[in-house]
Amino acid sequence: MKVINVGFIGCGSFAVNMHMPIIMKNSKFNIVGLMDINLDAAKAACEACNGGYFTDDADKILNDSSIDLVFITTRHDSHAELSVRAAKAKKHIMCEKPMALNYEDCLKVAKAVKENNVKYTIGYNRGLAPLVTKAKELFQEVDGKIMAYHRIQAPFPESHWTHIKDIGGGRFVGEGCHIFDLFCRIVDSKPVSVFAAGGTFLDENIVKIPDSANVTITFEDGSVCTTLICSQGCSSFEKEVTEIYCNNRAIYINGFKEMEYYGFEGHDKIKIELDSVDKGQRTELDQLADAIINDTESPNGIDIALRAAVISYKVNESIEKKLPITIDESEISYK
Ligand SMILES: NC(=O)c1ccc[n+]([C@@H]2O[C@H](COP(=O)([O-])OP(=O)(O)OC[C@H]3O[C@@H](n4cnc5c(N)ncnc54)[C@H](O)[C@@H]3O)[C@@H](O)[C@H]2O)c1
Repeated sequence: MKVINVGFIGCGSFAVNMHMPIIMKNSKFNIVGLMDINLDAAKAACEACNGGYFTDDADKILNDSSIDLVFITTRHDSHAELSVRAAKAKKHIMCEKPMALNYEDCLKVAKAVKENNVKYTIGYNRGLAPLVTKAKELFQEVDGKIMAYHRIQAPFPESHWTHIKDIGGGRFVGEGCHIFDLFCRIVDSKPVSVFAAGGTFLDENIVKIPDSANVTITFEDGSVCTTLICSQGCSSFEKEVTEIYCNNRAIYINGFKEMEYYGFEGHDKIKIELDSVDKGQRTELDQLADAIINDTESPNGIDIALRAAVISYKVNESIEKKLPITIDESEISYK
């Protein structure tokens, strides 16, 4: 079997603590080169994963003909530009969310990926979490509109760079996109509008953009999903729960580890529990490897990336205008 040679651009916390350990345990991957604008970070990551070399020059990774797949795990302001450069260098791309900080840059990424015929995956791992996949399977047998609720609450400190508009894009663009994608996966219909009520709940002297909101997405088939995204939550309380309802059935997922489902398979209640929290990162990378090896559809390709990105921009617009914002089908699929 072909082994996929990997280069990293961005060797910060998530790359080192999440992606690299997963890759090192998956024989489909081999880490070749590691790049960071902070050379010490690249060196430390290279040592930690026993990589081939480290550098502070992105072109060294992009011009390395042995590298098949580039991980873009930098802060959010460089994702689009690096994705375009990687696509033009004919590298497959695993880009952490968000796809870009604005819609125009999403389209540039989509164009470069399509023109250069490379695989692209955005890091919306939660939609691939095993318990979310199980929920989707269960509801496939059920007719009716879905109502769902997701909570993501945590103390998300003022000092975090995600809250800086030009670097992180804010909480909804930078992180909420995970949940918007999760809803779009659960509901088998197109999102048609988004309404968000919220604002800046952290210190407004420091955080200059909205950081918390209740966001409701309506789908073409009438399904409705709401997420509470709270930046001033409490770390001793479970960060994320998901509830899904349809046609007298209910599913409750607690922290991507436990799931209770009610009214399915002739039972009142079934409970399952995983050995550990699984937010889908391993599945995502394994499916991406298969897509590259077998030349099949990548798990979180361009249209999936674009869909949740568009919703995230409209969340900010909705908060600002205090109005529901419509989503046109043409905006969420790249031709
Ligand atoms: N999927 C998830 O659940 C999840 C969770 C956490 C973080 N993330 C994502 O991972 C990415 C990285 O986040 P993090 O928490 O590791 O941040 P971080 O600040 O720890 O790491 C970012 C790294 O990128 C480097 N960098 C910045 N600009 C660069 C550039 N132009 N070229 C090369 N290197 C550059 C920085 O020096 C730093 O080492 C973000 O996109 C974030 O949203 C995803």
